Amino acid sequence: MSTVKLTINDMEIEVERGTSILQAAQELGVEVPHFCYHEKLTVPANCRMCLVEVEGGPPKPAASCAMACGEGMVVRTDSEMVKKARKGVMEMLLINHPLDCPICDQGGECDLQDQAMGYGFDRSRFQENKRAVEDKELGPLIKTVMTRCINCTRCVRFAEEVAGTPVLGQMNRGEDAEIGTFVDELVQTELSGNLIDICPVGALTSKPYAFKARPWELTKTETIDVHDAVGSNIRVDVKGREVMRVLPCLHEDVNEEWISDRTRFSYDGLGNGRLDRPYIREDKKGKLREASWEEAFGFIAKKLKGVKGEEIAGLVGDLAEIESIVALKDLLGKLGSSNMDCRTDGAKFDPSNRAGYLFNSTIAGIDEADAILLVGTNPRHEATLINARIRKAVFERRVPVAVIGEAADLSYKYAHVGSTLQDLEKLAKDYKGKVKSEKPMIIVGSGVFEREDGEAIHNALYKIAEDLGCIKKDWNGFNVLHRAASRVGALDAGFVPQAGGKDFEQIIAGTKDGSIKALYLLGADEFDVHGSIGWKTFTIYQGHHGDHGAARADVVLPGCAYTEKDGIYLNTEGRVQYAKRAAFPPGEAKEDWKILRGLSDVLGQKLPYDTQIQLRDRILGEFKHFSMPDEIAPASWGGFGVKGKVGKEPFVSPVLNYYMTNAICRASDTMRACTLELLNSQEEQLEAAEL
Ligand code: SF4
Ligand code: SF4
Ligand code: FES
Repeated sequence: MSTVKLTINDMEIEVERGTSILQAAQELGVEVPHFCYHEKLTVPANCRMCLVEVEGGPPKPAASCAMACGEGMVVRTDSEMVKKARKGVMEMLLINHPLDCPICDQGGECDLQDQAMGYGFDRSRFQENKRAVEDKELGPLIKTVMTRCINCTRCVRFAEEVAGTPVLGQMNRGEDAEIGTFVDELVQTELSGNLIDICPVGALTSKPYAFKARPWELTKTETIDVHDAVGSNIRVDVKGREVMRVLPCLHEDVNEEWISDRTRFSYDGLGNGRLDRPYIREDKKGKLREASWEEAFGFIAKKLKGVKGEEIAGLVGDLAEIESIVALKDLLGKLGSSNMDCRTDGAKFDPSNRAGYLFNSTIAGIDEADAILLVGTNPRHEATLINARIRKAVFERRVPVAVIGEAADLSYKYAHVGSTLQDLEKLAKDYKGKVKSEKPMIIVGSGVFEREDGEAIHNALYKIAEDLGCIKKDWNGFNVLHRAASRVGALDAGFVPQAGGKDFEQIIAGTKDGSIKALYLLGADEFDVHGSIGWKTFTIYQGHHGDHGAARADVVLPGCAYTEKDGIYLNTEGRVQYAKRAAFPPGEAKEDWKILRGLSDVLGQKLPYDTQIQLRDRILGEFKHFSMPDEIAPASWGGFGVKGKVGKEPFVSPVLNYYMTNAICRASDTMRACTLELLNSQEEQLEAAEL
């Protein structure tokens, strides 16, 4: 790659040819104000705020976001000409901008407000009335005040380029120019909340957050999301005890600077339907009643008296962190139980080889892939940010994508080549030795293993990945796309049946045939808890919401939601990430590992750690790779799965409603509103199709 040398404000810099002056200035730490430029979007150069002076060039200011650096260029970003030009642009922008700051939710974090401090003037030369623009209805998540819009078109470009839903556009010309949807459509994308971040002014703001808080009132904590297995980096803003909003944090290798709508908007569910004290159910099928911690622990101890180790089992739900998973595993071990599983979706795959269940190419590896095959997954709903990466590969590099499974709208074009494993095997046979791609990827949804022949499918996929040339010396293109934040961590920590132990299906069967007399559910809500667990089994539920698990339990122990505890999570790549506590749990709820530690004492099986540091020492002693934040321990390729017959049923994505995938979402009014919106629009589409 050739480079060019130039001078900006008397500082020399060498950059790759094609770099814009604005990017070069940013590299030097020179601030150039801008509105329409965004590093992840195309460059329209329509706001003119980034004007600079190029000495020796044309005698007028140049838009630095759209002008490439040239050899020997001498640029000034602070000359009188530049200042005058920027003041002129600011005056233009403010001609029609309302004086809304005191009632505008962008106040305090508004680019226009900030730049007006530097380049604005406290009077206007214009006598004309300000124009007003009608607000647009963009659904339950985004509030619009379009009079504040500065027509930078960032939102239009984001919707088209990143989200792949080109419903926004710039209409009319001159003073009548406005942003809107052409046919009163909603912006139907699971990334819509990012429009709020991308809008440099208060034209697009968060509807649920409207008038709730000002930025300076919030305590901000950077942590990790748990709504899927991507492990998006987020910031949780809290006022008092209440979570006010969730925003993305930049992590180029995971979520870049985006988050999904479920991650961003389900936070109101953290305050609804919470378990804030222990409950016990003395009569089978009777009502739960409030209890103290001593009473609840005593009740459990009484019920477990005489129950043998092999009659006890534990299940881990989708949102649990490593600390509580290991504490439960230790407790079950002390009680003599080998019956444990984290695959509560009923997935059957071989957990003995990490390469068989990780997203081996890594999420950032999608940027290198030159062919992508999706098997039994709808990544748009299962891992929205991974789908956005795939879309980027299609949009920017024209990477071909093929799908085996449901032909869903993924926001990009793909070839639908079948829907069963047999179709996949045929494809692998036809292309064996003929795949020209250097870095092909196969992405398998974890849902394909949720059937009787799951292990046989897993085994078949091993050979298929090799036949399709996905496995090379420096490239592992076999990827499993998990949906549960806890899954990879729990698998790595060995929360699967121990020698002679029962798996999820056998545990559930055991509750019916009487071989499992006591069952510990650690936040396990994502299966038919009520319908599938036999009523004779004494069931303990530890979690944060009065959801499916609590409704069936005989004892309910209130734990913490992900925003209320420090914890280690591994995402679908196996990346270790440390989440931080942002808020306090309600009422008498306690950190999950502490509950297990306290219970172990009452059961006479004291766990050997009294602090989280001691617990982490215990964990890191056995699982060394958990000690490397933001690292992925590599997994070596080797056989997995069990040979067997595979049925001809088509692969289907298990996510039926994107907005309702866990207990927090189900308690969220915002997610409920989104679900209703989704149903309404599906109904409208059906009606339109019938007309
Ligand atoms: Fe003030 Fe910014 Fe809101 Fe405009 S968009 S009213 S400048 S805070
Ligand atoms: Fe720019 Fe916001 Fe207007 Fe969209 S709504 S054009 S992002 S100012
Ligand atoms: Fe350069 Fe808008 S940022 S013209």
